Amino acid sequence: MPALVLLGAQWGDEGKGKATDLLGGSVDYVVRYQGGNNAGHTVVVGDQKYALHLLPSGILSPGCIPVIGNGVVVDPSVLLSELSGLNERGVDTSKLLISGNAHVITPYNVTVDKVTERFLGKRKIGTTGRGIGPTYADKINRVGIRVQDLYDESILTQKVEAALDVKNQILTKLYNRRAIAVDQVVEELLGYADKLQPYVADTVLVLNQALEDDKVVLFEGGQGTLLDIDHGTYPFVTSSNPTAGGACTGAGVGPTKISRVIGILKAYTTRVGAGPFPTELFDADGEALRRIGGERGVTTGRDRRCGWFDAVIARYATRVNGLTDFFLTKLDVLTGWEEIPVCVAYEIDGKRVEELPYSQTDFHHAKPVYETLPGWSEDITKAKSFSDLPKNAQAYVKALEEMSGAPISAIGVGPGRTETIEINSFL
Ligand code: GDP
Ligand code: IMO
Ligand code: MG
Repeated sequence: MPALVLLGAQWGDEGKGKATDLLGGSVDYVVRYQGGNNAGHTVVVGDQKYALHLLPSGILSPGCIPVIGNGVVVDPSVLLSELSGLNERGVDTSKLLISGNAHVITPYNVTVDKVTERFLGKRKIGTTGRGIGPTYADKINRVGIRVQDLYDESILTQKVEAALDVKNQILTKLYNRRAIAVDQVVEELLGYADKLQPYVADTVLVLNQALEDDKVVLFEGGQGTLLDIDHGTYPFVTSSNPTAGGACTGAGVGPTKISRVIGILKAYTTRVGAGPFPTELFDADGEALRRIGGERGVTTGRDRRCGWFDAVIARYATRVNGLTDFFLTKLDVLTGWEEIPVCVAYEIDGKRVEELPYSQTDFHHAKPVYETLPGWSEDITKAKSFSDLPKNAQAYVKALEEMSGAPISAIGVGPGRTETIEINSFL
């Protein structure tokens, strides 16, 4: 029953899409377990580039069954346009399964996300504006709409009424917006029902049976460890659990079934949106990382904030996820620097701190303590094995491994499927 979790070890955009796609050919199911279309996962196959938001990256591997688990929030219009976009490019999407328990991002959730951010002003989170937080809030408040509700008009109408009751008061009286009509929302949602019907399934049953039958299941996280609602840099986080435990709740699979947890780790650090980021660079190096690494958001088109590698974050990710392996990505982007600083600890109010402080105030005051490693100038994009890497690149990888607390089992040296050095097999 090999069940692998693949998740972001930093603030998202580590290269989860590429890593998932790489394994897609050898696994039977790829499952998204949390988040929604706030994610943007890039997969490059030959000369074709795909940006996936809601669909698991396994959809591009013909033998693989893609699954949207109960923990995901689904915007039906985005899902349908993502499916038709792939169909137009010749990708077969007919095997997709969607949990009937997944929550639906309604148009009013998107409105509330945008209005709330606007009113937060300079305290805003910098969300993707896709309605993620408000949809999870409705779920927790027990006024959410689930995919299965699209198949019972009477229940759907009652639930939309319940959800809009308070929201319309807030929208009209506090935010000075027009009230949203129940009928209009119900009509729009019912319009998606037939198109989604062929995909809706009891995914919990399907996945547990698959594991009993010794099939290989890969859980693909969205976002990253430091964006986790419980373990991230709250409140500058997303509203779900990208960390390993989220795979269990978000797919209905027990923790005893998980055999491996792979952390995707960029060879430097990026972040989109607001919130603390100790190694952030505001100089020419930051600009160069952004340019060479192509660090622009796949979902929102925003420039990503860039900084040096932070080993404190990586150690933290190892701990809260129980990581068994790292997949180090974008090592090629660092080619050409004479020296590469790596953050090994923080200095907080004059004291050296080795681990992520639990207090938000301390983290906001954390200054990086750097060690400098020698760089390399040789092109590494054609490297196929660890020994093909220049000595300084090897030493950089080994140093990161030592500091981060789990073996680096694969290294990305370019965006393409084949631009990967595999050290230990994941399966
Ligand atoms: P995700 O959200 O974790 O799937 O990551 P994104 O797709 O948002 O961002 C990662 C970007 O880096 C994408 O443009 C990938 O094509 C690219 N990428 C992934 N791995 C590598 C790598 O090893 N080297 C280079 N140069 N690019 C990579
Ligand atoms: P992938 O899966 C990077 C960030 C947003 C914002 C915060 C909350 O591609 O790694 P939300 O819309 O989720 O309520 O926004 O989380 N964020 C991401 N940052 N990669 C992502 O996804 C992200 N998804 C959300 O920028 O700071
Ligand atoms: Mg992304």
